[in-house]
Amino acid sequence: MGVLEQIEDLERRLESGETAWMEAEARRDHLDTHAIVTGAAGFLGSHLVDRLLREGWSVTGIDSMITGELSNLSDVIPSTKFRFIREDVSGPLGVYDFGSVQWILHLASPASPIDYLAHPIETLQAGSVGTLRLLDLAVHKKAKFLLASTSEVYGDPAVHPQPETYWGNVNPIGPRSVYDEAKRFAEAATMAYHREHGLDVRIARIFNTYGPGMRPSDGRAVPNFIDQALWGQPLTVHGDGTQTRSLCYVDDLIEGLWRLMRTPFIIGPVNLGNPEEVSMLELATLINRLTGNESSIKFEPRPTDDPEHRRPDITLAQRHLQWQPTTPLIEGLRRTIVAQMQRHRIWS
Ligand SMILES: NC(=O)c1ccc[n+]([C@@H]2O[C@H](COP(=O)([O-])OP(=O)(O)OC[C@H]3O[C@@H](n4cnc5c(N)ncnc54)[C@H](O)[C@@H]3O)[C@@H](O)[C@H]2O)c1
Repeated sequence: MGVLEQIEDLERRLESGETAWMEAEARRDHLDTHAIVTGAAGFLGSHLVDRLLREGWSVTGIDSMITGELSNLSDVIPSTKFRFIREDVSGPLGVYDFGSVQWILHLASPASPIDYLAHPIETLQAGSVGTLRLLDLAVHKKAKFLLASTSEVYGDPAVHPQPETYWGNVNPIGPRSVYDEAKRFAEAATMAYHREHGLDVRIARIFNTYGPGMRPSDGRAVPNFIDQALWGQPLTVHGDGTQTRSLCYVDDLIEGLWRLMRTPFIIGPVNLGNPEEVSMLELATLINRLTGNESSIKFEPRPTDDPEHRRPDITLAQRHLQWQPTTPLIEGLRRTIVAQMQRHRIWS
């Protein structure tokens, strides 16, 4: 059954009075609930840990620290409901006694182009071996499984904006393929475990997300531009800057993941991102304005296979999660700039 057919089938069942899932979710909220978050010391993982703890969950965070920072977890480490394991998810996880586990949220993977180009084999392993190990654990624990996938599965898209039904345009042997193909494999594995074992799975195709907690050195446009602006340097834009991205503020994204885990309607991939596009030149100009940076913009060559446009079609998320980003770009950037200033102790 295709994804849309599955959704329609579930909707039909719900309309015909099958509300057991709602009751189960409501009961679950009152039980001791435990989630494993991989990539917990990373940008998105640490925000997700925060959210789960706020919702009353116990959380085990797993991270190899290949691109993570423990400072992202400084607020939650004292919590008695949080446990941290420094481990590579591509290695054997069977040595740990996780106890009962309701959700496994798999975010572990280098995620920025600088990171995955510096760690190509580790990126392939996190998406392949790591995903298989966590899927096995989910089967063993009868846990719901979330894969943090990416808009990169669409490659340099020939369809715009990208709906979940678009199969993508990925160069399978280019430098970026270590990330794109690892995530495509991870999606295939996730769906195979669903079909083979009946595992309850979710796949979030995350589009560019930004916010406090990103490493300025990871090379992604927002923290990179902000850092350059804070140091009064010219902002480096690749190509002529007309290429666009859609930028989602982290709180909105985490809300989307939370809703995705709680809905019974969606088994296949769901786009989570901001459908509003901004060109890299517009973004650089806005960040210069917000930081008061008077330096100009410097143009550099575009990286290989850098996509021209990225914009999610979020109809599925709007319809079934009642979700869409609500934080205006200017507000999200302001919060991110303040966080980056605090990080550099420019402002406290
Ligand atoms: N931030 C975005 O815009 C974005 C967009 C699309 C997809 N995603 C996905 O979301 C997830 C988190 O991304 P992020 O932006 O927080 O990146 P990040 O680099 O900040 O966090 C990734 C975390 O995973 C850890 N990690 C990597 N490989 C590991 C392994 N083998 N075992 C254990 N830990 C490992 C890293 O140390 C790091 O803490 C990734 O899977 C990424 O592909 C993020």
